Amino acid sequence: MKVESVRGMRDILPEETPLWQKLEAEIRAAFALYGYREIRVPLVERVELFSRGVGEETEVVDKQMYVFPDRKGLPLALRPEATASVVRAYVEHGLHAKGDLAKLYYLGAMFRYEKPQLGRQRQFHQYGVEAIGSLDPALDAEVMDLAWHLMERLALRREGLLLRLNSIGCRDDRPVYREALQGYFAARVGDLCPECRRRLETNPLRILDCKEEGCRALARSAPRSVDHLCPGCRQHFADVQAHLADLGLAHEFDPTLVRGLDYYTRTVFELCSRDLGAQDALLGGGRYDDLVELLGGPPTPAVGFAGGMERLVIVLSAQQGAEGASAPALDLYLVPIGDDARREGAKLLAAVRRSGLSVDTDYMGRSLRKAMQVAGRTARYAAILGPDELARGEIKLKNLATGEEKAVRLPQFAADPHTLIR
Ligand code: HAM
Repeated sequence: MKVESVRGMRDILPEETPLWQKLEAEIRAAFALYGYREIRVPLVERVELFSRGVGEETEVVDKQMYVFPDRKGLPLALRPEATASVVRAYVEHGLHAKGDLAKLYYLGAMFRYEKPQLGRQRQFHQYGVEAIGSLDPALDAEVMDLAWHLMERLALRREGLLLRLNSIGCRDDRPVYREALQGYFAARVGDLCPECRRRLETNPLRILDCKEEGCRALARSAPRSVDHLCPGCRQHFADVQAHLADLGLAHEFDPTLVRGLDYYTRTVFELCSRDLGAQDALLGGGRYDDLVELLGGPPTPAVGFAGGMERLVIVLSAQQGAEGASAPALDLYLVPIGDDARREGAKLLAAVRRSGLSVDTDYMGRSLRKAMQVAGRTARYAAILGPDELARGEIKLKNLATGEEKAVRLPQFAADPHTLIR
């Protein structure tokens, strides 16, 4: 019986993994340049971490979370995002006691029960940073600079990118803004989708996030959060923008940007790609100055972002496709002819690998011609070992790019293959 993978959960095949590995390496290098250190948190957490941290009323928790009891009935969730987990770890391990800014990064799988489409899956992978412990607006700008820097490293076209920015204020601003939104939408309740009519009572901010056309049209003229900021938050937002200007980071103020998770305060942003279609957010983030306290720690401001690996892969594969095929994966492909050569070849393989060169051989009983075809597809050099070569104590090396051949003494080849296949 054939068992298929779960809808929305993809295999990443060997043809794709080189790009993933390159991306992961660039991401780690960029994060390290900005002083972030890696943290690895579990894939499974208690449900309450997300219902409290991310918010009961958010789509992510209410509709998309994979929830299941363990064998003793403890309600668990596959993590839909990592910020809540990182903050839990920060509180649990007393990282705040060190009194410094904690700069933490992560890479890993997240799970959301969404309708799969291009750039949206049920298992997807995020890279993200969390800077916990400072309210300095320069830090908000630094986090956004890191996002830009990453895109530059990956050689994404700058013109294809757009940084959208807003401030949604602090928890003291929220009730005032909430009331303004409720008043506005209540007067237009007939044009709201059924879901947003419910949100009108529970969480009117979420209406600004609704994808229904009717609600979106209303959202465009809705009261703006920036008009309901306290003097402190207004100053903070002005400072963030000034720092962005100092760094030369282009951005667009978007008063409808509220983000889909409840923990955000003050700065929110998204970096979008014009090359992605409907799911255009490459990454998103912002401040969450109350989350540490909400999860049992001392009041501690924080800011961060996370991006989807799959979306980077989509944008970069399109770009790379235009750049042509990648280099062969192997240094060498050994083609033995006959049983004696196979036996001798096995010893050579072991020696060559231990010297640090990548080498493979034929285990499918292929003819010389077929084996050479495989060599041509997978390696830079072919090493041919037949009865004649064995009798002479030699091996034939062929440069597969130039076609140039040379005979090499076997002991020399086993001892120092590096100098021979430069
Ligand atoms: P988020 O906007 O929910 O934020 O997700 C961040 C990014 O993850 C999105 O911009 C998108 O690139 C990617 N993403 C989200 N859902 C999917 C999906 N179903 N399939 C593929 N990619 C997806 C957060 O998760 C916050 N924790 C970000 C953050 C960190 N805020 C502060 N610190």
